Amino acid sequence: MRSHIVGCGSYLPARIVTNAELAERIDTSDEWIVQRTGIRQRHVAADHETTSVIGLKAARAALADAGMEADEIDLIIVATATPDHTFPATATQIQAALGIEGGAAFDLQAVCSGFVFALATADKFLASGAAKAAIVIGAETFSRILDWEDRTTCVLFGDGAGAVVMKAAPGDGTLADRGVLATHIRSDGRYTDKLYVDGGPGSTKTVGFLRMEGKEVFRHAVVKLAETVRHTFEETGLSGDDIDWFVPHQANRRIIDATADKLGIGHERVVVTVDRHGNTSAASIPLALAEAHADGRIKRGQLVLIEAMGGGFTWGSALIRW
Ligand code: UT7
Repeated sequence: MRSHIVGCGSYLPARIVTNAELAERIDTSDEWIVQRTGIRQRHVAADHETTSVIGLKAARAALADAGMEADEIDLIIVATATPDHTFPATATQIQAALGIEGGAAFDLQAVCSGFVFALATADKFLASGAAKAAIVIGAETFSRILDWEDRTTCVLFGDGAGAVVMKAAPGDGTLADRGVLATHIRSDGRYTDKLYVDGGPGSTKTVGFLRMEGKEVFRHAVVKLAETVRHTFEETGLSGDDIDWFVPHQANRRIIDATADKLGIGHERVVVTVDRHGNTSAASIPLALAEAHADGRIKRGQLVLIEAMGGGFTWGSALIRW
């Protein structure tokens, strides 16, 4: 069995915060942010827009795109580092809001790599026959864990949600199959202090704020992202030339360009949203997939490569025939 992506959806909060607006509040400039990151604006959730609220909107849009009813879904995985509550899982709230009473729903925490980890997990459930149809959601309200006085982090992130519907279907076991063809996920907990949130229920009993050594994360990202994709290329015998669409995690335009160059993927085959969304952590890949699917860039039968790297460190990639 293979797991196919049969629908995509997304949701972005209406409120847009431009670099110029940030520059009125903190010591930064549009020029610095654009030059160092490629980010021009980001969306910020309204008070009532919690992660489950925006994740639900993306899930509904993905179901509509798939032409499926909610009761066909028996697995919901929400990748998020900004859940509504410590528990229950955001996924169970979305499950209830969709009116689903069966199957399983759980959250998965791998920060910016969360969507790749969640897609890899759903693929295992679907390909093994343990589930028939899944919604995999990346949803984040990072605006709530940002220190808005810290210019080195608050200019980088945004809020949003993206979702895909995945369905099990038979394949031949060859690279010509539709569906998820390869996944690789990795973690290395030695780097916790490079990117973390300085609070939590089990330590400070507070939520805390995001802290990052940007330069260090940047350095690791370029190396680790190329490494995870090279594993996929070695396993499949494919190369950068074979990839129709590269849909990377959207953290920084410079990281995206450097990784595409290392992998031999022309920039015209890279889906970029970081200029308009900023870094939406686990939501960035499904947001980009939904955009490129909706506007007709990604077509059925094409090879799509996704990758991400984030706090932990965690990193990973997946190769999908659309
Ligand atoms: O998705 C999770 C993974 N996260 C990432 O992938 C983020 C990876 N890191 C990055 O994207 C980059 O490292 C940043 C965009 C965060 C920073 O870019 P950089 O080129 O590494 O800049 P830097 O941290 O070396 O800072 C250069 C200068 C510093 O000033 P001095 O020490 O040279 O005087 C900073 O204080 O820029 C200053 N600076 C700023 N200036 C204006 C830092 N933030 C800002 C700011 N506006 N917002």
